Amino acid sequence: MNDEMKGLIDRLSETHTLSHAQYVRLIEGRTPQSAALLAQRARETRERIYGKAVYIRGLIEISNICKNDCLYCGIRRGNRNCQRYRLGKADILSACAEGYALGFRTFVLQGGEDAFFTDDVLCDIVRAIKSCYPDCAVTLSVGERSRASYAALREAGADRYLLRHETANALHYARLHPKEMSFDARMRCLHDLRELGYQVGCGFMVGSPYQTAQDLAMDLKFIEEFQPQMAGIGPFIPHAATVFAHEAAGSVDLTCFLLSVIRLMHPSVLLPATTALGTLDPDGREKGILAGANVVMPNLSPASVRKKYELYNNKLSDGDESAQCVQSLKMRIASIGYRVVTDRGDYQME
Ligand code: 5AD
Repeated sequence: MNDEMKGLIDRLSETHTLSHAQYVRLIEGRTPQSAALLAQRARETRERIYGKAVYIRGLIEISNICKNDCLYCGIRRGNRNCQRYRLGKADILSACAEGYALGFRTFVLQGGEDAFFTDDVLCDIVRAIKSCYPDCAVTLSVGERSRASYAALREAGADRYLLRHETANALHYARLHPKEMSFDARMRCLHDLRELGYQVGCGFMVGSPYQTAQDLAMDLKFIEEFQPQMAGIGPFIPHAATVFAHEAAGSVDLTCFLLSVIRLMHPSVLLPATTALGTLDPDGREKGILAGANVVMPNLSPASVRKKYELYNNKLSDGDESAQCVQSLKMRIASIGYRVVTDRGDYQME
């Protein structure tokens, strides 16, 4: 590895920051050797804060009905071939009951922007989960809503919120989204969530169409500055019913490389090894953890709807991706030297 890369990695490990131009260099000059050094440093940093723990979250996909038409997403409004569904309160509570018995202490309610889930409906569900399982965290991931709505949900007991920023370059954002959606609105949501006291997660896709190293450096700078408690990054994977059907998928190696960079710039961030990573590579989750990730989010949706939440083609939902296979997941994680733990796994201040 050349001295420049080694120098950048040393600087990032020590100071947790690089300039935009340095992030671009680190990404463009990436080699297997620089990736290995970065991953080693990322593991050391993660272990200093979280030890060998890997946190699990039960992901309940509450609806694939969405008013948005994001160009990359399989559940976009314009996809006529998508079999739409939504879960009711009883389905969601029974998924939580099943998850609780399996050891999950965080439930992530994720869904499209479905008008059925008004504040009243969603607050009632959040309250019900919190009253049945006061020892559990509830994470919401249901897209852009008004500040008043986020406030009501927080009041009802929601602890965390995931809203990927998708890309930190407003021009790139405009190429991935229909004109009704705006980068500024996305940012407003993230700032509202933060101010309302949620633990907030942002994130982006790696290898989305038109993405450049400059864009990725902007994503990294954004995470560095915003300091989210969580960051979700996974490779872009095309979906046949979208405009980007014939685009190439993102790279597993580059995703892992960026996981390591994020771990070093923001040591205490909760960083999942995502389903998309596991979809592109059977060892993707393990690779993500070895690159510095410390969270996995197995699927806890009812089996009858799992295949329908198809954000991208071939999205994993059974086998070790399913919450029911958590035993097998535990063994796989143990085989790489880590340990699945079943507490809430809150963000740790450094
Ligand atoms: N490939 C990878 N990730 C995707 N997402 C949506 N569509 C795709 C795709 N084709 C991600 C987005 C969204 C999250 C729920 O899933 O980043 O925020």
